[in-house]
Amino acid sequence: MGYKIAVVGATGNVGREMLNILAERHFPVDEIVALASRRSLGSEVSFGDRTLTTKDLDTFDFTGWDIALFAVGSDATKIYAPKAAKAGCIVIDNSSLYRYDPDVPLVVPEVNPEAVLGYAKKNIIANPNCSTAQMVVALKPLHDRARIKRVVVSTYQSVSGAGKEGIDELWDQTKSIYNPTDDKPAKKFTKQIAFNVIPHIDVFLEDGQTKEEWKMVAETKKIVDPSIKVTATCVRVPVFVGHAEAINIEFEDHLDEAEARDILREAPGIMVIDKREDGGYVTPVECVGDFATFISRIRQDPTIDNGINLWCVSDNLRKGAALNAVQIAETLGQRVLKKG
Ligand SMILES: NC(=O)c1ccc[n+]([C@@H]2O[C@H](COP(=O)([O-])OP(=O)(O)OC[C@H]3O[C@@H](n4cnc5c(N)ncnc54)[C@H](OP(=O)(O)O)[C@@H]3O)[C@@H](O)[C@H]2O)c1
Repeated sequence: MGYKIAVVGATGNVGREMLNILAERHFPVDEIVALASRRSLGSEVSFGDRTLTTKDLDTFDFTGWDIALFAVGSDATKIYAPKAAKAGCIVIDNSSLYRYDPDVPLVVPEVNPEAVLGYAKKNIIANPNCSTAQMVVALKPLHDRARIKRVVVSTYQSVSGAGKEGIDELWDQTKSIYNPTDDKPAKKFTKQIAFNVIPHIDVFLEDGQTKEEWKMVAETKKIVDPSIKVTATCVRVPVFVGHAEAINIEFEDHLDEAEARDILREAPGIMVIDKREDGGYVTPVECVGDFATFISRIRQDPTIDNGINLWCVSDNLRKGAALNAVQIAETLGQRVLKKG
């Protein structure tokens, strides 16, 4: 016996990836429904070899459904996630709405799988921000060995992290650069994104950091260890899919680069590609469609006592969202629901 699964936001970037990943990983599905807004009613999405016709989230009854994978943004999540949870369906949510709620576990299965057991308070489990998910996969095994004190991270985040509109804006603006009569001013982003980089993701907070940067700090503490200090600079770059991060880590104990490389090679969810030669590292275009978080450029930071630098790349629609959500569903299946 398998599960009855609802994919909520099935017409979006993350929702479509969820359907792909459920099929690719042969998730034990008995019944599946694709939900989106009324605008998409009747439109078709793929689930493996099957085609699903999208239904209206607003009129859907979650009673009798096991798990709902939500990818609709915070406003719609606020309305529909509590309805689904109240109907007895466990919600795995991709928005930021519940991530910092003490009654909702925030889970990356390679890092804190046991946290899924805390789902029952609200019948909701939160998925982290895309930049946090790939970073904590890399931090956790190193933290277990040498205790991380502080992390300094700069991100290079693709436009798909801003949804369908982000992808369209980069595509249209890039074309318009070659056709000046067809001007495409910035709309989704705050400045031109084609052939540019923008040091601003999500809203500004009072202390000058952005909400995206704050999320990396708060979520790393909740998922890995509240004692880890994180400071982040989050930057949008003209890449369609795949986030990259330059990460500087300061440890309590000494950790040399060879041991760090060995630890990361053995760690779940990680693929180390690190040759000190032209092209001996992974870039965002190469990680698209993959499950792994790729680590390259592992090297000692000689400016502090116990420091390591590394480069971390992953498909933001997968590990940063859809894959992590499906992995949570798998963990929930193995540890709690035990069907399939
Ligand atoms: N993209 C990433 O890298 C990433 C990473 C982590 C988390 N997330 C989060 O995942 C969520 C979805 O992101 P996305 O990139 O997939 O966005 P997207 O491509 O813009 O898709 C949004 C989806 O939500 C649906 N939707 C929006 N408002 C709705 C409403 N009122 N009722 C029903 N359905 C509604 C849309 O349906 P229609 O097509 O019918 O409008 C569409 O299916 C967001 O919370 C985002 O923050 C995204």
